[in-house]
Amino acid sequence: PGLATYDPGFVNTASCRSSVTYIDGEKGVLEYRGYPIEQLAEKSTFLEVSYLLIYGELPTKEQYDQWVHEITYHTYVHENVKSFMQGFRYDAHPMGMLMASVGALSTFYPEASDIQDPANRHIQTVRMIAKMPTLGAWAFRHAQGKPYIYPDNDLSYTENFLSMLFKMSEHRYDADPRLAKALDVLFILHADHEQNCSTNAVRSVGSSQVDPYSAVAAGIGALFGPLHGGANEAVLRMLRRIGTKENIPSFIKGVKDGNERLMGFGHRVYKNYDPRAKIIKKACDDVFEVTGVNPLLEIAQELEKIALEDEYFVKRKLYPNVDFYSGLIYEAFQFPPEMFTVLFAIGRTPGWLAQWGELIQDKDQKIARPKQIYTGDRTLTFTPAEERW
Ligand code: CMC
Repeated sequence: PGLATYDPGFVNTASCRSSVTYIDGEKGVLEYRGYPIEQLAEKSTFLEVSYLLIYGELPTKEQYDQWVHEITYHTYVHENVKSFMQGFRYDAHPMGMLMASVGALSTFYPEASDIQDPANRHIQTVRMIAKMPTLGAWAFRHAQGKPYIYPDNDLSYTENFLSMLFKMSEHRYDADPRLAKALDVLFILHADHEQNCSTNAVRSVGSSQVDPYSAVAAGIGALFGPLHGGANEAVLRMLRRIGTKENIPSFIKGVKDGNERLMGFGHRVYKNYDPRAKIIKKACDDVFEVTGVNPLLEIAQELEKIALEDEYFVKRKLYPNVDFYSGLIYEAFQFPPEMFTVLFAIGRTPGWLAQWGELIQDKDQKIARPKQIYTGDRTLTFTPAEERW
């Protein structure tokens, strides 16, 4: 009794077996079901990647068409979910709204708790991937005081999302195809990342055998935190605070003195480079071609250059991660910073669901219940309040 390995943050503990995503942090490799992220980002689509992550293989043409059809026709949510969302304060953070409304879906689909039935798991998986953009877009419209826009099922996944976000008239909203494509790539890059904090949360909560909406709501809560999904928002705040290239050296000095962190740098797993950061730089160029260059880009590039040559960062193997540039792109889309993590959540949904499905089917998986090293008192004698005070 009391014998346990102390491993805060589980940095050395494998909590599960998984065949979803492979990462080699030293070599900067990321693969979904064995396929390199670079190839998927360049040649696949977010919905195809979602199928791959969840079902383990690339779909046939018939499977793909059926998958896209099902997701497209589950984009609507119950009207009472809309009323529920409208009840939030005018300035509610969209991540809080998303987390709550995904959790609320468990009450609209009580049959989702039958997690051992593969057909049931499939339909809930489809529903969640389909509805996430609707909920995310409505959370965005809510903060702006604008009416919620219903899905347009004639549009692709990302075009429909952009329509629900930005549509301003009765007419159909036609997103620039280059922006829709860039968003699709960003979703692919975020689709899974093995046992990151939010996926670990989904698995941990899911291991109690609760329904997938409750488990994913927990994942959204984990993603909300600034050291996880909130980092890209923090990057923009940091760049804005630095303000000009001339201020970079004093900022770097503050980081090295331990006053703050260089947000968007460093990763628990990648100790060489983050392959997603490379792909995102290319997406940056594509988006800025349409929207014009984000003025903070210059500061970001200079900051990256200086940090990559600085001994402090080199010694600690700190490189730009996916969040260093993603915020700049999202801002070019005119998303307010609070929406960045919502975008991350939409992209990460198939990964959460793939890992949740794997967990449910793994006969060896147990309820998550780590050990602890107890550091408190023992066997004290209790004195009633009236005698102590
Ligand atoms: N700026 C300055 N120093 C840093 C940074 C940073 N961004 N990241 C790590 N360090 C230092 C840290 O102070 C420590 O130094 P020392 O050994 O002298 O005490 C050393 O590097 C190791 O840091 P750590 O905290 O033990 O590393 P970790 O693997 O636990 O943390 C991290 C990984 C991502 C939380 C961390 O690098 C960080 O806080 N980065 C900034 C936030 C960020 O960009 N997060 C997004 C991560 S990628 C997207 C996602 O997965 O959500």
